[in-house]
Amino acid sequence: MKLASVTPAEGKDRTYSVAVGNGALEYLPELLAKKKYTKIALVTEPTVRKLFAHELARVLGTGVSLEVFEVPSGESAKTVEVLQSLWRSYSDMRFDRSSLSLHLGGGALGDIAGFAAATFQRGIDYIQIPTTLLAQVDASIGGKLAINFGGAKNQVGVVRQPQAVVADTALLSSLSLRDFRSGVSEMIKHGIILSSHHFEALEEKALDSSDQEALERLVFESIELKASVVAADPEEADLRKVLNAGHTFGHAFESLAFDMNIPLLHGEAVSIGLIAEAKLACLRGLLPVECFERIEKCVERQGLPTRLSFEFDLDKLFDLLLRDKKNRNNQIRWVLPKKIGDTERDVICSREEIEAASRYVCK
Ligand code: GLY
Repeated sequence: MKLASVTPAEGKDRTYSVAVGNGALEYLPELLAKKKYTKIALVTEPTVRKLFAHELARVLGTGVSLEVFEVPSGESAKTVEVLQSLWRSYSDMRFDRSSLSLHLGGGALGDIAGFAAATFQRGIDYIQIPTTLLAQVDASIGGKLAINFGGAKNQVGVVRQPQAVVADTALLSSLSLRDFRSGVSEMIKHGIILSSHHFEALEEKALDSSDQEALERLVFESIELKASVVAADPEEADLRKVLNAGHTFGHAFESLAFDMNIPLLHGEAVSIGLIAEAKLACLRGLLPVECFERIEKCVERQGLPTRLSFEFDLDKLFDLLLRDKKNRNNQIRWVLPKKIGDTERDVICSREEIEAASRYVCK
């Protein structure tokens, strides 16, 4: 097990630990012992509860009693109604400012449960225990919490850092290969935007959930990279925007696929988004062609899609791109790679360049 820490810029008193690796769950009792909590909730979803709640109870031992609150699986849980039901549960069970909420599940579970904990009585402590690779390397780190609203993803939310994160890589062996690879996409992103060393490890060999040694090392590295950005800019005033690389196109592709009932996972949309945005950077002369080719090969090496399997209307794509949260004055602001390990932020591109880049991933 390895220990990373996140120290958000506003002060050392907000530093929190991220326990990473095979068996990291065992670190949980030590984290709980740091404070005297009046009550502890376990917020989880049915499938995850069946798989891991027993193991969690074993790790915590008989001295800790948990109030278990279940929410629906996946994005469908991120609603005002589910949020309200969690507030109701905290309230009915007499949770107070000295209570703790443990969140066992994927990115969506962490989002809705985190939002409920961050707002109940103006915020109670919470610990994220992510059970997917995507949530371990991305969603659980950095305190972004949100629900979907008015047909838009993550429309209402807050930024509030957790008390700790426990990313046990042993839990990842139950993921389907497709879900596992979807998480690798965010790791490739961390390499492209922040570290050529991290990228090189991923372009060399496909990550495998059964190779715990490599998984622990690379998940830890990826978390440390994200943590360094969150620490410098927790509220996304500027630098944190780099984490949106691949997501401007990626979110639009995800929405197009959703509307057409075509199954496309978030990480898959991001991997195609990374390629489309690298192409855009190349077309502008920002990224050398050989770097673009390495990005495309790395995505392929990790078994992720490089092309969309469907055609779409360009006006519809632009409509979605214009809804991106990074935009200002109705202009799409891109985060584009300029080499492996570095980016340029707030790039404005012409419609022709954007069309050409999106056509590239439609082949
Ligand atoms: N997933 C992007 C961020 O946490 O800022």
